Amino acid sequence: MWLYLMTPVGLYYLLRWYREKQVVSNLQDKHVFITGCDSGFGNLLARQLDRRGMRVLAACLTEKGATELRNKTSDRLETVILDVTKTESIVAATQWVKERVGNRGLWGLVNNAGISFPSGPNEWMNKEDFAKILDVNLLGVIEVTLSMLPLVRKAKGRVVNVSSILGRISIVGGGYCISKYGVEAFSDSLRRELCYFGVKVAIIEPGFFQTAISSSDGHFSHVKMLWEQASSEVKEFYDKKFLLSCEWDLSLVTDCMEHALTSRHPRTRYSAGWDAKLIYIPLSYLPTCLSDAFFYRTSMKPEKAL
Ligand SMILES: NC(=O)c1ccc[n+]([C@@H]2O[C@H](COP(=O)([O-])OP(=O)(O)OC[C@H]3O[C@@H](n4cnc5c(N)ncnc54)[C@H](OP(=O)(O)O)[C@@H]3O)[C@@H](O)[C@H]2O)c1
Repeated sequence: MWLYLMTPVGLYYLLRWYREKQVVSNLQDKHVFITGCDSGFGNLLARQLDRRGMRVLAACLTEKGATELRNKTSDRLETVILDVTKTESIVAATQWVKERVGNRGLWGLVNNAGISFPSGPNEWMNKEDFAKILDVNLLGVIEVTLSMLPLVRKAKGRVVNVSSILGRISIVGGGYCISKYGVEAFSDSLRRELCYFGVKVAIIEPGFFQTAISSSDGHFSHVKMLWEQASSEVKEFYDKKFLLSCEWDLSLVTDCMEHALTSRHPRTRYSAGWDAKLIYIPLSYLPTCLSDAFFYRTSMKPEKAL
């Protein structure tokens, strides 16, 4: 009985493994443009693809970040300064990319740049707090994609958008979850449109990882003040919740991005991190009443945070 059940499952995974391990040819001729390469996933991915021999066009927010990255990589890797919230910066970066890729087009566009603060209970926020995150995490992704798309289409290449498990289940107030739900929706419509042109779109959904994004420097002063006023019980709760589920090995995420860019058959969605795979993705499939009950029992009660 078990044999009859296990054989098709085993065969399915064997076939999937074989299909997914096939790599596209001529990687050394392919250009990949990555946003947010100063630190975190973007920085590691730039170095990883450079080691793999690909032509990395790394966009950094600061000159310092760009210089440090160039010092750690081969002469093949080139950097450009890009602020994804500024149209003129995106236009200039697109022209810079166009000059480098020529008639080959752009094989990979990785929309990675992002911020996570101001975050906290919704009632602590004003419209500007929401707009700050949406500007980088959602409108930035949309504007960079629209600007680079003709180059990606020319190469019949890949768009890789970095979302989050918080784009599947909304558990933090402020603009972050909203921005990532938006990235998921944008990526889904893009994938359905672009498949006719041979372009593939992949979404990366990491769990919680220890990177610079978790630094609360991004708070506006009024939100910072509310956090400072919060009781030690609230702070301890959030610190514990974050640290307990936090993963340190960033390559779990960059390996997914690399697969999305180099496999002949990339996946539509990649989840990275044990918390994403074992907790948040399964929770996102549960009926709302059950996921609400889970968060009701495990979250700080609002009367303590507000
Ligand atoms: N870490 C996690 O737990 C986690 C989980 C799920 C999803 N993500 C997503 O993963 C992506 C990368 O985040 P990370 O964790 O690697 O954090 P990170 O180290 O802070 O990387 C974010 C990068 O984006 C850059 N950036 C910020 N604002 C920008 C702007 N306006 N224009 C261009 N670049 C800008 C940052 O530059 P500076 O360093 O100069 O500020 C930094 O290089 C983000 O989209 C994030 O939402 C992270």
